[in-house]
Amino acid sequence: MSAKETSDGELPPSLPDAAKEHAALSEEIRGHDRRYYQEDAPAISDAEYDALRRRLDALEAEFPELKTPDSPSQTVGAAPSGAFAKVRHAVPMLSLGNAFAEEDVAEFVARVRRFLQMKPDDELAISAEPKIDGLSASLLYRDGRFVRGATRGDGAVGEDVTRNIATIDDVPERLEGDDAPEVLEVRGEVYMSHADFRALNERQVAAGKPVFANPRNAAAGSLRQLDPSVTASRPLRFFAYAWGEASAVPSDTQTGMVKNLGRWGFSINPLMKVFTSAEGLIAHYRAIEAERSSLGYDIDGVVYKVDRLDLQRRLGFVSRSPRWAIAHKFPAEQATTVLEAIDIQVGRTGALTPVAKLTPVTVGGVVVSNATLHNEDEIARKDVRVGDTVIVQRAGDVIPQVVAVVPEKRPKGATPFVFPTVCPVCGSHAVREEGEVVRRCTGGLICRAQAVERLRHFVSRNAMDIDGLGDKQISAFYEWGQIRQPSEIFTLERRERDGDGLILLRNREGWGETSAKNLYAAIEDARTRTTDRLLYALGIRHVGEVNAKRLMRHFVSLEALRDAARRATPPDPEVKGDKGNDAWAEIVDIEGIGPIVARAVIDFFQEPQNDPPLDALLAEVKPEPMEQVARESPVAGLTVVFTGALEKMTRDEAKAMAERLGAKVAGSVSKKTDIVVAGPGAGSKLAKARDLGIETLSEDEWLARVGETG
Ligand code: IVH
Repeated sequence: MSAKETSDGELPPSLPDAAKEHAALSEEIRGHDRRYYQEDAPAISDAEYDALRRRLDALEAEFPELKTPDSPSQTVGAAPSGAFAKVRHAVPMLSLGNAFAEEDVAEFVARVRRFLQMKPDDELAISAEPKIDGLSASLLYRDGRFVRGATRGDGAVGEDVTRNIATIDDVPERLEGDDAPEVLEVRGEVYMSHADFRALNERQVAAGKPVFANPRNAAAGSLRQLDPSVTASRPLRFFAYAWGEASAVPSDTQTGMVKNLGRWGFSINPLMKVFTSAEGLIAHYRAIEAERSSLGYDIDGVVYKVDRLDLQRRLGFVSRSPRWAIAHKFPAEQATTVLEAIDIQVGRTGALTPVAKLTPVTVGGVVVSNATLHNEDEIARKDVRVGDTVIVQRAGDVIPQVVAVVPEKRPKGATPFVFPTVCPVCGSHAVREEGEVVRRCTGGLICRAQAVERLRHFVSRNAMDIDGLGDKQISAFYEWGQIRQPSEIFTLERRERDGDGLILLRNREGWGETSAKNLYAAIEDARTRTTDRLLYALGIRHVGEVNAKRLMRHFVSLEALRDAARRATPPDPEVKGDKGNDAWAEIVDIEGIGPIVARAVIDFFQEPQNDPPLDALLAEVKPEPMEQVARESPVAGLTVVFTGALEKMTRDEAKAMAERLGAKVAGSVSKKTDIVVAGPGAGSKLAKARDLGIETLSEDEWLARVGETG
């Protein structure tokens, strides 16, 4: 995600509107700050938080009046909670701007160069180091002795946690060497290693205490203990990466000074390196990302800092972050939790989607209790079972997903998940097409989950084309409980006339005498839409406008199609050579209609739940035949079977021609067959035709019959 994407929403047109949004946004950000800094219980991901911040910045850039001293843009974090003494930071503890996309890194480098008015050949050194996912702290040394430790707090005022920080092994009580400044405030990150975090949580469980969601929360909770002996029992660590107040800074560069901190006894991160191009920084970012899972502690990105301290001074700060540094965030975060149940949700198109119901867990700073399992095959592939401990991932702002199962933690007796074959919303059969991963509800006419979407399709321009019934109106009628299925569109006026305490349409908001009358007229008009439009309007899967025409050209009436579909039995894949029955053959033999479409049509018409609404609909409409296709042709209405080799045309052409002339083309010979056209090599079909006394024609005779000789 690039920084631009999330901050780009349209800005309000006027100051009052902007002020309103600004106030609400500020309130929201303050709430998140409180949860993050004081309660160690963040409710949203860092990425989401950053997006809120960016929106705030965008508002203030457009309406500078909103940039008041108490705006969250002018403060960092949250004011201390009150349990500890307050510490005013001599140099404010600031935050970092974020980069999410590689373009943002290039943009950062370009911005710095522009600001410093550097020439293309001038070299700009920038360091890159891991962004440690802990909490920042300030450690004050006087004459080489640790005298005070503080949290960041709101950046201006933090909490005095001296005694707690003193318990951390990585924090020297006395600075080493003889060249440390008299006054030196060291800044860095307090964090907990993965191994220590796991061990701590095991101890918590053994003691019947709540576990920590992640190492950062554990570190924060441990540092802010009122009893330092508790902190001492928590294995905290510290990486030094910056400094605040200092009586001397014996280096010209950021990295030089950090190396000094290392000499004076601090742990410094070994992955810090200097580069002179955005490409170099990005390459290091990727290298660190590749190493991320084996580092043994959490990092959430890479921090880039202009290395020369004189340039840092020239660059200075913008509100809460330095112009000379930026944090390039990593995209994904993972956590493990227990899968409590698998829910099946039904989407607007009838797709059944499995959703994991999880024991709530913090992933990337957000509490996650639902995650997608994608589909039936994914559940089987990962062998996800209810009761399993699973790894959950959030990548950027996408829906959390279940990545894998932790097999060692599978409870005894957990059984493989059986995906339902009926729709959990309406009880209709849910079917899966060959080669499709999604299972779909076939109860298109009655399923609540699909209803509004289906109704919208039903009335749309190329379907029943009912003027005055747009998306908005359909939703409203559905809400009012007045139109729940297509037939009810046509009974609307009658029901209204019959009263039953119904609110008259003309009295509804947005409607009047004329618009109501116009709607009823449009509905009346739609009763006679052609059969192919009516079929298309039903929204059967794979039956778009073209297939609806193909089907109706052959079957003429919807009743005939329905009858064939009800009788059809597709080939049984278990039985070798099975071709299905005649009714099946009749459908798949229509030009352009293959087994996938045929199956979808059959599934729809064979679903018993669709019968009542379909009957109700057919009782209301009087569809006209789609087009008067060659009614007068000599073969109109006859059923023709082609067999053997054809010499003057391909089988497809022959079929298309016959259908154009109003004949039905079937794949097999039965009592219903009127003509069999047999070419050389015709075998069993020809024999059967003779048996049944059906008229047989050669290809030429057929062409002569239909008047297209030669
Ligand atoms: S430099 C003036 N370097 O990230 C900014 N910060 O979002 C000085 N952090 O408050 C910060 N690792 O808590 C810096 N290597 C690193 C860091 C780092 C983690 C944290 C720190 C800071 C926050 C900014």
